Amino acid sequence: MKKFTEIDKARLDELISRYPTKKAALLPALWVAQEVYGGWLPLEAMALHLELPTADVQGVATFYTMYNKEPRGKHAIEICHNVSCMVLGAEQLIQHCERKLGVSATGETTADGVFTLARVECLGACCNAPAIQVGGTYYESITFAQMDALIETLKSAPSETVSPPQAAMPEMRDF
Ligand code: FES
Repeated sequence: MKKFTEIDKARLDELISRYPTKKAALLPALWVAQEVYGGWLPLEAMALHLELPTADVQGVATFYTMYNKEPRGKHAIEICHNVSCMVLGAEQLIQHCERKLGVSATGETTADGVFTLARVECLGACCNAPAIQVGGTYYESITFAQMDALIETLKSAPSETVSPPQAAMPEMRDF
């Protein structure tokens, strides 16, 4: 099982330095841990480097659905099933993917470990429904044909992990 390297620890330290307390850095720190551990949070990943009670860390990690408590496939296809996406065909898209991949969209992973398929709540892209997310990338107004093409492309693509939100923040612009 992978452990935090000195580089990972330095990354956490830099992250923690941006917050008034270690506890305040817990959410982004868990993102780093999830990335380090290949897209999910085994118990030892939650030990982090924060000197917080394990119960506090587990309480937070198990509350939020974006932290994965089980290993996932190389690519996690997350399909929004909330109102806007549902009205514009999310349910049919989910069923299409379930048939194509042979897994349930309840977070199941294909036998070859390449794809995990999951329904998720609103991705905040309602104006371009139906929306899906794969790793850190959004695909919007997606059709069956685009979904099929994406699945084919992903089969040979490297895994894309989601970076902690702070690391992905764009530069501030003047408005
Ligand atoms: S309802 Fe699907 S992105 Fe908001």
